[in-house]
Amino acid sequence: MDTVIITGASSGLGREYFKAAVKLLPECEFWLVARRKEKLEETARICENARTRVVECDLDSESGLEAFSSLLAAEKPDIKAFINNAGFGKLGNVADLDAFVQRDMVSLNCGTLTYLCAEAVKYMQKGSCIVNVSSIASFVPNPRMAVYSSTKAYVTAFSKALREELKPAGINVLAVCPGPMHTEFMAVAHITDENSKTFRTLPYCNAEEVAYKSLARALKGKAFYTNKALYKFYRVLAKLAPHNIMMKFAKC
Ligand SMILES: NC(=O)c1ccc[n+]([C@@H]2O[C@H](COP(=O)([O-])OP(=O)(O)OC[C@H]3O[C@@H](n4cnc5c(N)ncnc54)[C@H](OP(=O)(O)O)[C@@H]3O)[C@@H](O)[C@H]2O)c1
Repeated sequence: MDTVIITGASSGLGREYFKAAVKLLPECEFWLVARRKEKLEETARICENARTRVVECDLDSESGLEAFSSLLAAEKPDIKAFINNAGFGKLGNVADLDAFVQRDMVSLNCGTLTYLCAEAVKYMQKGSCIVNVSSIASFVPNPRMAVYSSTKAYVTAFSKALREELKPAGINVLAVCPGPMHTEFMAVAHITDENSKTFRTLPYCNAEEVAYKSLARALKGKAFYTNKALYKFYRVLAKLAPHNIMMKFAKC
């Protein structure tokens, strides 16, 4: 059966991806993956007519990834769309943040995403797609979110290269680069109006719109999606202006 798999589906953008996928691919089965089972069940209840499977899994552990691979091997789903959305950030200087947490950020945002792409393609066919959730943070390195912005630079670059590799198989890869959104991300990253002028002043994106438009574009074979004119302009500027100048404005 055609299947859509969404990581980080227990909250925020992942939950919006579920709603978007139900609208765009109503005939599919939906696998909702994250650590908090009760929150995944809440997500599933949003569209009660959809055929869902809750997969409780810590994607940042060896055993979690092995269990997920075993599930794929046992079920052999026809993956129509794989949405690599699970991820987190932390605000603060590298010297001040917990070193293990920063390593875990690289591991989940980059390592897990890479592993899951490698596994997912085994179950994909012509017309399938991967959506990798990156960020506008990938355009220019962000002081005070150095590790996070670097992980997202990896996601954007990796997605472009993987897209070329998978073109002959007719499988598309899209990188989505949202600006800030009101999700649990902010609390997890310890971002407040008081501790970041950048996050206080930047315009926020609508997660529902980001999810729907990026998945729709991925299914149409597009490579990239960012929303809001300001962030589209920022992306172009980041390609033209030297990063040592841009970083003065990109500090979180
Ligand atoms: N919000 C923003 O401003 C913003 C902007 C640009 C890009 N993004 C990106 O958007 C994506 C979604 O974030 P969000 O804004 O929706 O934040 P969120 O509400 O905190 O969602 C993060 C999701 O990742 C899951 N997750 C975290 N660690 C996990 C692990 N070890 N194993 C499995 N799942 C895990 C969480 O589920 P559990 O806790 O239940 O495991 C949660 O469902 C992230 O990749 C983020 O970097 C966010």
